[in-house]
Amino acid sequence: MAWKMALPRDSRLHFIKKTYYLCLTASLVSWPPHRHNSSEQPFTLLAPLPAYTMFTTKVRFGSTKITSELIERVERVTGQRAHPFLRRGIFFSHRDFEQILDAHEAGRPFYLYTGRGPSSEAMHLGHLVPFIFTKWLQDIFRVPLVIQLTDDEKFLWKDLSLEETQRLALENAKDIIACGFNPESTFIFSDFEYMGQCREFYRNVVRIQKLVTFNQVKGIFGFGDSDCIGKIAFPAVQAAPSFSSSFPHTFQQREDVPCLIPCAIDQDPYFRMTRDVAPRLGCPKPALLHATFFPALQGARSKMSASDAYSAIFLTDTPKQIKNKINKYAFSGGRDTLEEHRRLGGCSEVDVSYMYLTFFLEDDEQLAKIHKDYSSGEMLTGELKKVLVDILQPLVREHQERRHAVTDEVLFSFMTPRILRVGL
Ligand code: TRP
Repeated sequence: MAWKMALPRDSRLHFIKKTYYLCLTASLVSWPPHRHNSSEQPFTLLAPLPAYTMFTTKVRFGSTKITSELIERVERVTGQRAHPFLRRGIFFSHRDFEQILDAHEAGRPFYLYTGRGPSSEAMHLGHLVPFIFTKWLQDIFRVPLVIQLTDDEKFLWKDLSLEETQRLALENAKDIIACGFNPESTFIFSDFEYMGQCREFYRNVVRIQKLVTFNQVKGIFGFGDSDCIGKIAFPAVQAAPSFSSSFPHTFQQREDVPCLIPCAIDQDPYFRMTRDVAPRLGCPKPALLHATFFPALQGARSKMSASDAYSAIFLTDTPKQIKNKINKYAFSGGRDTLEEHRRLGGCSEVDVSYMYLTFFLEDDEQLAKIHKDYSSGEMLTGELKKVLVDILQPLVREHQERRHAVTDEVLFSFMTPRILRVGL
């Protein structure tokens, strides 16, 4: 196990104990964060979603659409231009995000929470979306961030040994760290590891378990009589990090720090359940920002899979593999013949290369021009794909370089319970 590789077992334990003790007793607190000065706005605000975006995921279950007014408010409050994922509707709905902005404006602290289920070593581009966005939120709000690696969840759901899920958690943590999170204000934890380090976390898990009936989780997650009881109890484990009392060292025993969770929309059921129990625990309900799905190469309706190398761009792909995959497998909205394409234009709404550009091409003007040229038939599929390949090759290469620089020491320091410094 990589834990053992990092440090001999005894010194590692000693380190954890020492750090934990230090954290609990330290008086030097950098909490709450300093406030941002947001008087200037050196950019133009955007009107409703621009024509070159086309994400129309349904806003459901009482969540709220992210409107251009809300995006403008983020820009006003932080003095930063909104991230393209916000401006383009990739993060498209929310719960109580306004209250987080209220808190921030009033100088009250909040923290970020997100996570990953480590089911495979092969992370793909889509997995990065919530993490890229979370890093941006961390940078603009300068708040602490906790990242849960649910190795226990994947042990329960997949045909993997417990040791393997723990190993995958550490491997995935390196990819997450490579997204550039601030080491001073980010705590990454594996459930198997942290549950034994922090009794407050487990106590919250059980408190939540007491407040949710089997009938309720059946309704929310569709569990049946033959599902193992571990699955039925697990939602409480994903809910617990939404409460600051699960991180007593990080938040100095404060139990009322509100939480903001950026996540893909498929995680919303966990947090509907969490929000339901929060008032009964005397805790604030976590706020949420929901991302739409990242499409597979074969199109928005098919699923990316770690076992199908051609369904996604993986973070381990070589420049050549990236080029081949895009050219051969990215579903195209181009027409059958050149003549037809010139006459009718390409269909960007179904074109996967175009969709990927909306995620990763930062320049709004260039994207708008590509949309126009592709739709009019002036731009061909091959040209569109080339633009994408030229963006993704360096993006993935740079990710690999940053991941390579993540030593066991770096990994270990992110995963050590400690005070998170903010406002740096
Ligand atoms: N269940 C998630 C997955 O399978 C992992 C996860 C845990 C998570 N906590 C989270 C995702 C919080 C988003 C936000 O990937």
